[in-house]
Amino acid sequence: MSTLRSVVKGVGGYLPKRVVTNDDLAQLIDTSDEWIAARTGIRERRIVADDELTSTMGVAAARAALGNAGLEAKDIDLIILATSTPDQTFPATAVTIQAELGINHGAAFDIQAVCSGFVFALATADNYLKGGQFKRALVVGSEAFSRILDWQDRSTCVLFGDGAGAVVVEAQKLNGAMSDRGILAACLRSDGRYRDKLYVDGGPSSTGTVGHVRMDGPEVFRHAVTKISEVIGDTLDQAGYQASDIDWFVPHQANKRILDGAARKLGLDPERIVITVDKHANTSAASIPLALNAACADGRIKQGDLVLLEAMGGGFTWGALLIRW
Ligand code: UT7
Repeated sequence: MSTLRSVVKGVGGYLPKRVVTNDDLAQLIDTSDEWIAARTGIRERRIVADDELTSTMGVAAARAALGNAGLEAKDIDLIILATSTPDQTFPATAVTIQAELGINHGAAFDIQAVCSGFVFALATADNYLKGGQFKRALVVGSEAFSRILDWQDRSTCVLFGDGAGAVVVEAQKLNGAMSDRGILAACLRSDGRYRDKLYVDGGPSSTGTVGHVRMDGPEVFRHAVTKISEVIGDTLDQAGYQASDIDWFVPHQANKRILDGAARKLGLDPERIVITVDKHANTSAASIPLALNAACADGRIKQGDLVLLEAMGGGFTWGALLIRW
């Protein structure tokens, strides 16, 4: 029996040129490389240039993903951008990316699930492709988090960075076997009772301002490992796989201690975790596609590999996706 599957055709990334190290931050606020590295695994992050926007980075990552897929912009009929730092309140930044790429057919819209945004966006694209409504989707995560940080708040400003990543996914008629390429399973979760644990203290309908990131870090940490492990278990069950079957675990890059904790709980081989948090810090919705791009570019992830994506962030939102690459 043939079925439609969303197959990853290409991946791309973009990082701003400016590198800011932990030592650079220690010149500005009361922090240290030792504290940041020991608590989070972060060594440095990239920060957008004054003339760069979320859309600028998203377009660069999208172009790289299209090139990697051997496709042209006109081949895309769906663009979903995951971001919490849009260029404007509206229109969706996805339509700016669409226009910059010269696409004027199909649909483009933004998804807002903070650090889980890329997982939510890819799962959404998967449903449209499996439903036959669109043929090829560009799923982008792009964030200029440096623009919403309170640079006096050492408990948040050291944690985040800027960047963008993108994947191209294509609907293909396949047999429906788990050995076929494509997205095999997805689980998305939210629990708004925790919305005040990680949020921005502004918005169009409340303060009329953009606001700054606020986080109860230890409380987020406390929930992260349990929620991540549960949703990964549900996703693996859905596809009939076990943690030991996973070739590459590509998690949202918030804190190396959280990733190690989740991997330990699930019995995942630490060698199989893709880590970029040391170089990129937490780039929210961009972190997973940036990590995918790094692991594809250096040859770790190969066609046929079983790849597990996972994220957790503000809301709380969390989710996982299992992909046969
Ligand atoms: O992507 C969305 C998901 N977000 C996350 O997953 C983040 C989850 N949370 C975390 O990663 C950790 O909670 C943090 C890295 C944010 C913080 O680590 P922690 O071990 O939970 O530290 P803490 O917040 O309990 O702070 C411990 C101490 C405090 O000092 P006192 O009160 O013990 O004297 C802080 O004031 O560390 C202090 N501190 C710092 N010291 C140096 C907080 N930030 C800094 C800093 N540099 N940047």
